[in-house]
Amino acid sequence: MALSIIILAAGQGTRMMSNRPKVLHNLAGKPMLQHVVDTSKSLNPEQIFVVVGYKSELVEDVMSGQLLHFIKQKDLLGTGHAVAQCISSVKSGNDILVLTGDVPLVSRGTISSFLSASKETDVNVLSFMPSNPYGYGRIVRNSEQAVCAILEQKDAGELEQEIIESNSGIIFITGRHVKHLIGLLDNNNAQSEYYLTDVIKHASSGGFKVDAMICSEADEVNGVNNQLQLSMVERIYQKKLAYRLMSEGVKVYDPARIDIRGQLTVGKDVVIDINCVFEGVVHLADRVHIGAGCIIKNSQIATNTKILPMTMIDDSNIGQNAVIGPFSRLRPGTECADNTKIGNFVETKKASIGAGSKVNHLSYIGDAILGKDVNIGAGTITCNYDGANKFQTIIEDDVFIGSDTQLVAPVTIGQGATIGAGSTITRNTAAHQLTFSRSKQVSISSWQRPTKIKEV
Ligand code: UD1
Ligand code: CA
Repeated sequence: MALSIIILAAGQGTRMMSNRPKVLHNLAGKPMLQHVVDTSKSLNPEQIFVVVGYKSELVEDVMSGQLLHFIKQKDLLGTGHAVAQCISSVKSGNDILVLTGDVPLVSRGTISSFLSASKETDVNVLSFMPSNPYGYGRIVRNSEQAVCAILEQKDAGELEQEIIESNSGIIFITGRHVKHLIGLLDNNNAQSEYYLTDVIKHASSGGFKVDAMICSEADEVNGVNNQLQLSMVERIYQKKLAYRLMSEGVKVYDPARIDIRGQLTVGKDVVIDINCVFEGVVHLADRVHIGAGCIIKNSQIATNTKILPMTMIDDSNIGQNAVIGPFSRLRPGTECADNTKIGNFVETKKASIGAGSKVNHLSYIGDAILGKDVNIGAGTITCNYDGANKFQTIIEDDVFIGSDTQLVAPVTIGQGATIGAGSTITRNTAAHQLTFSRSKQVSISSWQRPTKIKEV
C-alpha cells in the first residue's frame, strides 16, 4: 500500500519562549522540521504533507521548493484536528504515517522497521521508555498487554502516571480505516483538544488491530518543547556525528566538544582538536589537522595541511601542506595554493595566494592576487577600497614586501621586486628592483623631551 506522510508543524511552541515557530529552530544548523522532512523524503512516500498554522507563511517560505504539500490549520485545535485537515488531500486508500516537527532525530532506519511492523496492524504507535516520562502521552495496555489507549499527561490519573512507556508522537494508520478513525475524534478531555492519540482508543474498542512498537533507540524520539530539550537533542545528535567521524578514522579529541552544522567529509588520519565548528559543506583531506577553536564553513582543505587554533575559514580553498593560523581569518574567496602559510592576525578576502607564499603576521590581504613564493611582511595592508569602489592588488612571483607597507590598489608589484619597510606604494613597481617610499631618516641633536608642567 502506498504511503502518505503527515508532518505536524502548526504549533507555536509556547514553551520555547520565542517568536520563531518551534519547528524552525535550528538543530545542527538546519530547522528541526527540515530534519523530519529529509528523513521523510528518504522513505520515498507518495505524498508528504506539512501541517502549518502559527506563522505559516514563514514556515512555508523557509521550507519552499521541496515538493511538500502545505496544509493550513487555521485554528490549532489539537494533533487529531491537524491530521483531519489533511485527510481530504490524502490519496484515497493510502496508509498514513504521522510524524511531528518537534521530534527531529528519528532515523530512517527506525521508521523503516516501524513501517514493516505496521504492516500487521491497523494502527501502530512508536513508543519508547524515556528516563522521565513526564509530559508524554502514556501507552495503556490491558492485562493481555494489548495496547488499548494513550492517555495524555494532563488526563492521566495517578496510576497511569506511573506508566513509563510513552508515545513518541509517531503513529501509523492503515488506509483502510483512516477516514473512519479520524472521524471519531472528539475534544472531551483536559485540554479540550482533538487528540490524534485517541485513535488508539477508538481502534481498540472497534476491534481493529492495534499495537505499539517500543523504539530501541529512545534517544531518537526525544521531543523538543523547550530550549533545554533542544540543547539536549543537539548534544545527542552531535555525539552521533562525532562517533560517525571516529568510525571513519578521525581522531576527535572530545566528541562532546565538536559541532557539525552541515556535511563534513574526511580523508584518512584527520585530527580534530576541541571546540571546532564545521558549517555547510566542508571537506578535510588526508592528514589534515584542525587545531582547537576553529570555525570552518563551506571550505575544502587539502592533504597534509594544518589549521592552527582559533582560525576562521569561510568559503575558501586551501591547498596541500599549508599552515594556516593561529588566529587567522580567511573570508570568502580566499584560495591558498600548496605550501602557503597564513599566520596570526591575518585577514584575507577574495585573495589568491600562490604556492609557497607567506603572509605571516598582522596583515590584510583583500582583492589580491599573489604569485608564487611571495613574502608579505608583518603589518602589510592592501588598501583595496577608496570609499566607493574596490580595486585589485597584483603581487607577482618572488616579491618581498617589507613590514608595515600599504599597497594602494589598483597596483602591481613586478616580479622579484622588493619593497622597503614602511612604504606607501601607489604606483606599479619595477620587477627585480628595490622600491620604497618614506622620508629620509633624520636625527635632531637640539631636540629635548617635554617635561611635565608644574601646577601652581
Ligand atoms: C504529543 C502527543 C503525546 C506525545 C508527544 C510526543 C498528542 C495529543 N499528544 O504531545 O502523546 O507523547 O507529542 O512528543 O498528540 N500540532 C499541530 N496542530 C495542533 C497541535 C499540535 O500541528 O493543533 C503539532 C505541533 O506543532 C507539534 C506536534 O503537533 O509539532 C505535537 O504537538 P505538541 O503540542 O508538542 O504535543 P505534545 O504535548 O508534545
Ligand atoms: Ca511535543
